[in-house]
Amino acid sequence: MSPAPILKEVKVFAPATVANVACGYDVLGFAIDSPGDEVVVRHSDKPGLRITKITGDDGKLPKTVEGNTAGVAALDLLRHLGMMDRGIEMEIHKKMPFGSGLGSSAASAVAGAYAVNKLIGEPLSKKQLLPFAMTGEASADGAYHADNVGPSLLGGIVFIRSNQELDIAQLPVPENLWAAVVHPDIEILTKVAREILPKHIPIENATQQIGNLGGLICGIIQEDYGMISRSIHDVIAEPHRQKLIPEFYKAKRAALSNGALGFSISGAGPSVFALCEGEEVAKNVANAVSKVFTDIKLENQMHVSKINQKGVHVIS
Ligand code: HSE
Repeated sequence: MSPAPILKEVKVFAPATVANVACGYDVLGFAIDSPGDEVVVRHSDKPGLRITKITGDDGKLPKTVEGNTAGVAALDLLRHLGMMDRGIEMEIHKKMPFGSGLGSSAASAVAGAYAVNKLIGEPLSKKQLLPFAMTGEASADGAYHADNVGPSLLGGIVFIRSNQELDIAQLPVPENLWAAVVHPDIEILTKVAREILPKHIPIENATQQIGNLGGLICGIIQEDYGMISRSIHDVIAEPHRQKLIPEFYKAKRAALSNGALGFSISGAGPSVFALCEGEEVAKNVANAVSKVFTDIKLENQMHVSKINQKGVHVIS
């Protein structure tokens, strides 16, 4: 195999993700086509990694490498490779809000590690970048879960058997499976959404959740939309987190009555998502859910997408 060409500059896109997928708290996630974050990296004569520009963050992120997930992930990669002195400039273009439930910090972390790996001649495979992107994301929310980072990196639907061992599997994607994602304009910090969850759960809930997770995975593998639909229920996080999202149950009723296979919170929220069979259903569901938020004067954005199977990739 010929060595990867030396590139002067690389611009990459890492997609948004829906984590948990209702019954897979911290262990299941999928990627959507847009939005997503962009990172540009180029060689520099000055040794070390530097962040030269950040856009779309409303001035919230410091320009230090340690101050954002893209920088932390890239630095962790360079440290691992013994290349801390390599002169690299990085630009980060945030295209989705913080605390949105769309995996914003994960997408930046993935983009940071992937872009730098490409620039230096691709010493590691995509899958090998997972631990570095994880370190990047963990620097933002203090927790270590791959359900956003995994699908943003690899694309598709990713199941994580163990977050500690980073033992993951990509599931096949049913041909006609679409996601309708709606982001109401409020901010929920993942840390806060994790803190409100109970430390212990009744065994009946655990049994139900395990059954649903197994059912959802079987439904996805067998392209059995009925099984998928019967399985999209979250009895662990949703009952607690729904309180943070105005009119959550009204939005859920609107999604289900418009034909959604299932509906729940995307990651830690406030975004909500529905899985649907076909684009038309997904569009109707997104419109119906959006209307629930608009009716209470809550601005919101819709994203209707097939499951993104590409994950992070070079755009120029
Ligand atoms: N699985 C995580 C959670 C996703 O629900 O807290 C948040 O990014």
